[in-house]
Amino acid sequence: MSAAVLQLRHAYKTFTAGGSHGRRVTALDDVSLAVGEGEIVALVGQSGSGKSTLGRVVVRLERLDRGESLFEGVEYSRMAERPMRRLRRRMHLVLQDPYQSLHPAMRIGAAVAEPLEIARAGDARSPRVAEALEEVGLTPAANYLRRFPHELSGGERQRVVLARALVGRPRLVVADEPTSMVDATLRASIVKLIRDLRDSHGIAFLVITHDLDMAGAVAEQVAVMQRGRLVECGRTAEVFTSPTHDYTKALLRAAAEVGRLTTCP
Ligand SMILES: Nc1ncnc2c1ncn2[C@@H]1O[C@H](COP(=O)(O)OP(=O)(O)O)[C@@H](O)[C@H]1O
Ligand SMILES: [Mg+2]
Repeated sequence: MSAAVLQLRHAYKTFTAGGSHGRRVTALDDVSLAVGEGEIVALVGQSGSGKSTLGRVVVRLERLDRGESLFEGVEYSRMAERPMRRLRRRMHLVLQDPYQSLHPAMRIGAAVAEPLEIARAGDARSPRVAEALEEVGLTPAANYLRRFPHELSGGERQRVVLARALVGRPRLVVADEPTSMVDATLRASIVKLIRDLRDSHGIAFLVITHDLDMAGAVAEQVAVMQRGRLVECGRTAEVFTSPTHDYTKALLRAAAEVGRLTTCP
């Protein structure tokens, strides 16, 4: 494997649900995971297994309780905010719902420029903004810059969200359920876009999904999460054809049943 962009080592994260005397939930329980340069890794598991927590810890929206996170070999789980700001441009979290991540009153150009402005590197007129729009297939970019989110299709909005992720030239994009709100055609085009972006720019992706078909289509490596633990990791083709863990087998069986129901009503 090539050099790791991201490494988590023995990561722990606990939440207390419902106040200080509430039930303790171990969202991450001794998780170790590496994402290589330009690699696409899928993180799969049922709802509540800790996938989004892992994504938030990676971009440091949440702090680890214990363990380490390294970006290009540099430990950052305890890094001060100032150096962290520079690092944040190099990794980006994409959320599942483009309505949530795009302000309805903000023009597309401004929305894509926003991550640059935080880093004081440009504005909506920056050539980098148009470039990012074209990289995600919104061409010509000039047709999109002054439009509002509601004027675009669902697929175009998903692309805008990805353009926002790309504008700072990240090395790692964490995409949390990027296809959960979309139909099969759009899902296929997002899968293709992620793979194209990896191929052309060498960006690594951690794709969080509960959709095993999506995971199989997009990723060469898959990590299976159950109740805060990674129970199985490996090449997607191998994990999906010969899973070793009972939980992975159960997930695959459940996915096959859903498949049967949808193809043979
Ligand atoms: N901020 C929080 N406060 C309390 N509990 C949380 C918080 N975030 C996540 N959890 C809990 O941690 C567990 C994992 O959640 P999450 O990471 O969202 O799982 P997933 O994305 O796989 O559905 C769940 O039990 C969830 O209720
Ligand atoms: Mg989640």
